[in-house]
Amino acid sequence: MTEIFSNIEIIKAHSSQTLEQQKFAKENQSVFKYLLKQVKINALTTPIMEILGSIAIGMVIYVGSTEVLEGRMTSGEFVSFAAALFMLYTPIKRISKLYNQSQDSVVAHERMFELLHTKATIVSGNTELSSPIDSLALHNVSLSYDEQMAVHNISLQAKKGDSIALVGDSGAGKSSLVNLLVRFYDPSGGSITINGENYQDYTLHSLHQKIGYVTQRVYIFNDSIAYNVSYGDIYDEQRVIEALQKAHAMEFVEKLELGIHSILSENGDNLSGGQRQRISLARALYKNPEILILDEATSALDNKSEALIQEALDVLKPDMITFTVAHRLSTIENADIILVFEEGEIICRGSHAVLLSTCAVYAKLSKTN
Ligand SMILES: Nc1ncnc2c1ncn2[C@@H]1O[C@H](COP(=O)(O)OP(=O)(O)OP(=O)(O)O)[C@@H](O)[C@H]1O
Ligand SMILES: [Mg+2]
Repeated sequence: MTEIFSNIEIIKAHSSQTLEQQKFAKENQSVFKYLLKQVKINALTTPIMEILGSIAIGMVIYVGSTEVLEGRMTSGEFVSFAAALFMLYTPIKRISKLYNQSQDSVVAHERMFELLHTKATIVSGNTELSSPIDSLALHNVSLSYDEQMAVHNISLQAKKGDSIALVGDSGAGKSSLVNLLVRFYDPSGGSITINGENYQDYTLHSLHQKIGYVTQRVYIFNDSIAYNVSYGDIYDEQRVIEALQKAHAMEFVEKLELGIHSILSENGDNLSGGQRQRISLARALYKNPEILILDEATSALDNKSEALIQEALDVLKPDMITFTVAHRLSTIENADIILVFEEGEIICRGSHAVLLSTCAVYAKLSKTN
């Protein structure tokens, strides 16, 4: 049902409600089958116990009365034995019911503990990253998801004030590389250093405080714009307004009746695609990050808005290391270093002017842009 609700637009656009209904009915039917089995077994326990109990009582009376008749047992002994036996019957019945209930708990316990014992693969370091980030370096970094190699043998040096752009075909590994920087994954090979120290030694919290990341997919919380922008940080109204201004979002936020206190619906459905991107950019800028990662952060914006955001970012540039992923080359033309990706590897690197004359792939990208 979660999948259906989050994909509701596609389902309606394809008029595939009936198909989804059938899929849901099938899933529901299989759950129903298991429930029915459980109820059946529970319901059978009592009559089976009653039958077995009656047979046992019948046998006791038969054997006991024969013994009494043949003089091997007094009638007093038989009555007290039979009474003791009858008193045992109810507790035994209860134990059999308890067994059924305990089986449910055992299964629930197994599933819960499987989850609770799952170990995080990304382990926080112990050193606080308190000093400003002056340098960042990648040494022969690779990343593979399961079998598939997404990023291969990447080396790079960057210092405060540098802007680095990543371009290349879809699926070339650009997002994978920036995901490594925020430690969504750890490198499968090579290492990444910040201020000369392995970045895995720093605590995740202190690392994330210094990184502003605008992901390719926009995430919006069902709360106010102010909450969305200041997310995870101390709330400061003035900083929220400044971040929204830098992200060129204030112009539409101002027009809303409640301004920055307007509530955004789930997934930001009451905003346009470009407006959502600007909220997401404001969230990254609110932190005053020392590493700013923009993964297709302005792809849904018109050229004019993008240029205005670019101007705001140019002012901030000297104080941070900026990574920009873009398909539109106009976004990254002014970057200090442009990395051209192909199948997880950097095939060319340099400034816009240099790459145009030396890198055939980049020249081709520039023509088709
Ligand atoms: N979480 C994941 N699990 C497995 N494979 C993945 C995952 N994320 C990406 N990939 C694969 O890794 C490769 C690189 O993907 P990546 O997202 O880095 O590309 P990209 O250069 O950002 O592309 P785009 O321009 O379309 O965003 C792709 O082949 C993709 O299928
Ligand atoms: Mg990507």
